Amino acid sequence: MANLSKTFGEREVAPPEREALVRSVFRRVADRYDLMNDLMSFGIHRLWKRSLAWAVDPRPGQLIVDLAGGTGDVARLVMGADRRVVVIDPSVEMMQAGRGSRKSLVDWSAGTAESMPLPDACVDTLTISFGIRNVTDIDTALAEIWRVLKPGGRLLCLEFSTPAAPLRPFYEAYNRHVIPRLGAMVARHPDAYHYLIESIRRFPDQEEMKRLLEAQRFTDVYYRNYSFGIACLHVASRPGNAG
Ligand SMILES: C[S@@+](CC[C@H](N)C(=O)[O-])C[C@H]1O[C@@H](n2cnc3c(N)ncnc32)[C@H](O)[C@@H]1O
Repeated sequence: MANLSKTFGEREVAPPEREALVRSVFRRVADRYDLMNDLMSFGIHRLWKRSLAWAVDPRPGQLIVDLAGGTGDVARLVMGADRRVVVIDPSVEMMQAGRGSRKSLVDWSAGTAESMPLPDACVDTLTISFGIRNVTDIDTALAEIWRVLKPGGRLLCLEFSTPAAPLRPFYEAYNRHVIPRLGAMVARHPDAYHYLIESIRRFPDQEEMKRLLEAQRFTDVYYRNYSFGIACLHVASRPGNAG
């Protein structure tokens, strides 16, 4: 896992360079990001996100943060008049593409997983959907998530993971051959989608991700596979009593 922070695609890069390259990926794909997600996953990412939103179980008065929230898919599923929902993302372009000109009940704020513009222990629930594999330093990000969560607060992390063995050859062939072509045709940036695929390939599997969370002192850690493990939702709590 530590290696993820030093790679971009198949290249070894220094962490600051990786950060800049990841930013440039999302800057370039922002206007086609939602369309590409629908095409690449046949719309199934929407079902995964609905399941994530259901697990959030929002309550009146809560502060819910959607970290790496991008165009705000998840934030829109959990927003409501009786709670505050904030998207935090370093890409102004992604947030602009999602915000459009519509008024919504979502607040948008620039920030990274490694450094969020929030005081300690203020967040009831933090979601991160297809964002954690983009962060440059996952341990720092998990420590930062811990910092902003209230005691008893929960992290819900939806991410691509390792599918069941019989599915893997088909999944890898699809990722390797189909997605970069779609990226070229639709998003006009095949290299950006090459990075996305490579970052999925290098990301820890379900059990390793669970161990990373436990190593950062999260408790009650469990996960739920979606679509035979193509995606996975990890749920983890900051210990303490929810106030
Ligand atoms: C694959 S998109 C996911 C967007 C959205 N959450 C979704 O599920 O559709 C990844 C997002 O992570 C953001 N990102 C990249 N590096 C980040 C970092 N260090 N901290 C937080 N977000 C980051 C990108 O700007 C991008 O919006």
